[in-house]
Amino acid sequence: MKLPLPKSIRWKVGLPILVIGIASGLAVGFYSYQNSVDQAKDTTKEKIKTAMTFTKASREYVRSILRPKIDEILASGCSKEDFILEAQSSSFFTASIFKKVSEEMPNFALRQVAFNPLNPKDEPNELEAKIIVFMRNTGNKEYSDITNYKGERYFVYASAVVPDASCLRCHGQVQNMPKVIQTLYKPQHDLNWEVGKVQGAVMVFVPFESTILKAQLTGLYRGLFIFGLFLALTLFILFSLDRLVFKPVEKLERKAEEIAKGNVDEPVDIKSDDEIGKLAEAFERMRVSIKKVMDLLK
Ligand code: HEC
Repeated sequence: MKLPLPKSIRWKVGLPILVIGIASGLAVGFYSYQNSVDQAKDTTKEKIKTAMTFTKASREYVRSILRPKIDEILASGCSKEDFILEAQSSSFFTASIFKKVSEEMPNFALRQVAFNPLNPKDEPNELEAKIIVFMRNTGNKEYSDITNYKGERYFVYASAVVPDASCLRCHGQVQNMPKVIQTLYKPQHDLNWEVGKVQGAVMVFVPFESTILKAQLTGLYRGLFIFGLFLALTLFILFSLDRLVFKPVEKLERKAEEIAKGNVDEPVDIKSDDEIGKLAEAFERMRVSIKKVMDLLK
């Protein structure tokens, strides 16, 4: 199939370069956008992982150091409490830390959620539930992606919560829970978390809308820059062709018309050292020969 393009060398040369320019601009723009988003995802993930390491370390501290110590003190009979929530529950401890972090960094939404939670506030929302079920079904212990939530894009990171037997003391049957937990949380039914099965997740939501917008703008600018380069190249080539080829050729064309009409007295005044110059010289020799023949015929 032939495209109905104007039959001019200007188009034949300029159009392909412009088309390549548009394609390159789009490719560079898109690649740059993708690259910026990927980079932002990686940095955010790294930051979150650092935060997670701190969380896990504090959990571990409560579990292995603080809890046994307080147990020892309670066993000596110095208090009538059977359990001191603030000092012995790593979950309570983490929940308090998360609350503080969320206050300090409103953009960094940290939540620990689970199906059948002790604290009703920790019931997963629709998106969180989907992610937990996904990790449960795939066996992944980690999940991260950009997700649309209530019309805004977030980078979401989830680390699976898989209970072990020790968790059932507070997340199993109501009758086994320390009194203080029963009083404080008033669980309506047994929670019965299953050991070894993904029950919930520690979730981090980081707003990503402006990051994506910035990446789109950078992509757009880079794409436009590349297209601009090709546009400048096209203009340069067309301008040079015009000056070096088209203008002299048009002049020769007019001269040929003149000679065809018999006006052979005016010399061809094109001076250049390139192919067009040689063509003009050949033309000039032809004009002189024709003039000689015509003079002879007079
Ligand atoms: C000594 C009691 C206790 C033990 C043992 C315990 N937790 Fe908790 N857990 C709590 C309390 C109290 C909360 C509610 C904290 C709050 O107010 O947000 C909680 C909340 C959680 C939550 C948020 C969902 C919910 O139920 O509210 C997760 C997830 C969690 N715990 C995981 C674990 C895991 C995993 C283990 C075992 C490694 C464990 N917990 C062991 C007391 C405990």
